[in-house]
Amino acid sequence: MKGSEVKREYRRVDAALKVTGRARYGSDFDGGTSPAYACLVTSRIARGRISRFEDAPVRALPGVLEILSFKNLGGRIKQGQTFPIGYMNSSIVPLDSPRIWHAGQVIAVVIANTFEEARAAARQLKVEYVGEPPTASFAVGDEGVDAVGQTEKGPAVGDAIGAYAKAPVKIDARYATPTQHHNSMELFTTTCAWKDGKLTVWESSQNVYGYQYGLADQLGIAPADVRIVSPYLGGSFGGRSFLPQTTAVIALGAKMIGRPVKLEATRADGFTIATYRAETRHRVRLAATREGQLQSLIHDGWEVSSRGDAYKVAGVEMSTRLYACNDVASSVTVCAADRATPGFMRAPAEMPYLFALESAMDELSVALNLDPIEFRRINDTQVEPIEGRPYTSRALMQCFDVGAERFGWNRRNPTPGSMRDRDWRIGFGCASSLYPTYMAPAAARITLRADCTAQVQTAAHEMGQGVRTVVAITAAEGLGIPVDQVRVEAGESSLPPGPVAGGSNSTASVCNAVAKGCQDIRERIIAAAIAAAEGPLKGASAREIRFIDGYLVCATGREPLRTAIARLGRGALEAYAENSPHGTPAEGVAGMYKGLPAFTGGMFLKDRIQCAFGAQFVEVRVHERTGEIRVPRLVGAFAAGRIVSPVTARSQLMGAQIWGMSAALLEATEIDAHHARYVNADLAGYLVPVAADIGQIESIFVPEEDLLINELGIKGIGELGNVGLNAAIANAVFHATGVRTRELPIRIEHVLERLS
Ligand code: MOS
Repeated sequence: MKGSEVKREYRRVDAALKVTGRARYGSDFDGGTSPAYACLVTSRIARGRISRFEDAPVRALPGVLEILSFKNLGGRIKQGQTFPIGYMNSSIVPLDSPRIWHAGQVIAVVIANTFEEARAAARQLKVEYVGEPPTASFAVGDEGVDAVGQTEKGPAVGDAIGAYAKAPVKIDARYATPTQHHNSMELFTTTCAWKDGKLTVWESSQNVYGYQYGLADQLGIAPADVRIVSPYLGGSFGGRSFLPQTTAVIALGAKMIGRPVKLEATRADGFTIATYRAETRHRVRLAATREGQLQSLIHDGWEVSSRGDAYKVAGVEMSTRLYACNDVASSVTVCAADRATPGFMRAPAEMPYLFALESAMDELSVALNLDPIEFRRINDTQVEPIEGRPYTSRALMQCFDVGAERFGWNRRNPTPGSMRDRDWRIGFGCASSLYPTYMAPAAARITLRADCTAQVQTAAHEMGQGVRTVVAITAAEGLGIPVDQVRVEAGESSLPPGPVAGGSNSTASVCNAVAKGCQDIRERIIAAAIAAAEGPLKGASAREIRFIDGYLVCATGREPLRTAIARLGRGALEAYAENSPHGTPAEGVAGMYKGLPAFTGGMFLKDRIQCAFGAQFVEVRVHERTGEIRVPRLVGAFAAGRIVSPVTARSQLMGAQIWGMSAALLEATEIDAHHARYVNADLAGYLVPVAADIGQIESIFVPEEDLLINELGIKGIGELGNVGLNAAIANAVFHATGVRTRELPIRIEHVLERLS
């Protein structure tokens, strides 16, 4: 950082708070005094309408205070604006009508004095339905998927079909990824309280500004009358980016009974009242010259969305821009099902679409008899092939080189099934990773007090990724004070606006604003120190003065920061700073104060493209007789610009790599095709890895300096670590067994038959 130097390996600033249980999560709040408790009643059918709803007998049950349904809430909640303009993923207005859009839809909320009374009453509620046969997923047709979806062309250049036909070596393969749910530790909880016409909502959120403006819009009240409090999130992964259906309902419930209401939805409810990762299908056609130069890349994707909203992630935006190729085509088809609307889940677009592309790259490298790393090297580029925009920096092959070295890729015998250890067949696999570097306008207020402690206020979100740590480090470095002298206030809509904690943009967006504020404070202190009648820095050149360990330092002398602050004659110095990244719409931060979301970077810029890159390496072992698949080693090498906090960054990458493995081998939400209902909506049936599933993990940072991307040279890392790992595992399973698995999660039955 310009102007200051501090040592660089720090702890997580809130580690002690977290391990001693003092950090307060959304679910920890009770809205002040004695809230009433809510219990959800959800639809048993996936499509149709409620034909009979009798709440009168239930209203008479012990402790029951109110029952919310379409009968008393119909027309009360306005339809919120949906993504990408608004804050909702779904246009379904909760409790608006008897219409049923999906199984697990909230159809009533029982509010009672205690949670037990609310639950007991909810179970007594008599509801009858008139159902229609639902569509659960893709309807299987000739193309392998529903042909009635809405198809949109994606990025394209040249004549991909013609080039594919002419090329000598080619593959044409179909891939599938399943529905997945976030299942963060913290359940979906909201507590709402009204006081003097103002609403306070305690709810874990990745988007406190969005929730504030979205909720005000839904309820028809002024944004200034809504406050969202979310100091810590117990996991999120994209699942708390969109304003959920339940918040406005609970807010109205609290208003109706004149008392705070707390809803803690069950684990099973979380599968249908919140967002999830949509099921996808892919067809990838790849062709190359015999030497391995890509001649054609055609990526067609299909995604399932709800009947009401054509939500899509359209990962072809990135999969078509990763490698050099003159002839590219792509499309995305959104298919409607009787399901809740999907939403963001860690690397929403890149996880499924790079599974397909990076599996296909491996298949073509086998067809070419080329090492998969060398195949990628031949097609590496510093310019994306569609519009010809340069990457601001791209260290993909450096990541492969560093990762291969650490992993021991040179020990790999390329012949599938050739590496064995007793009854286990060993497979080495690799794949590219990338994540677009997105940014958003952000603001921060910095206060430096006379005792050299500082406070930073910004509406960023601590989801465990370490935003408070990176903000504290940035302020400490900017002011030349120890990190533990910086206090960070975050996770509240009344603070200076911060962006949605999505698309891995928080560190780059927020730290650049914090750094600007610190610079402003430094400049004021320096100006006074230079102009002082006496003192060691009198007359020094401003550019030479550094802020180091509580001192202002230059070649001719140094002065305690304390003295320099005191010279300004105030108890504290305050700076408010805004940062509007390259490509931001004109409103910038001002737009955020009006509730306008702004998001830029990645592939959305006219003049350039900005991404972080990585290389994923895995070793799998497949048991010859049982087909059991184990993953003893994960090695990832990532280049993501300046790493502000190595401790929390490594932890994020490690978590992401584990999730990549989990998504490849364990996680899938199973749906009953006939009833369109989830059958494993709990952590017993929805598999996630435990410690015994995890072997060695290495997460390596490949040094990278990108002076173009933003002032501090920061790229996002939150989602980078799990992209491509699913493909690396499938590629390793192929290498171990000779069985190509094109459907996730990869299970024993995929490999067992072909093993013996
Ligand atoms: Mo991330 S899925 O954009 O929170």
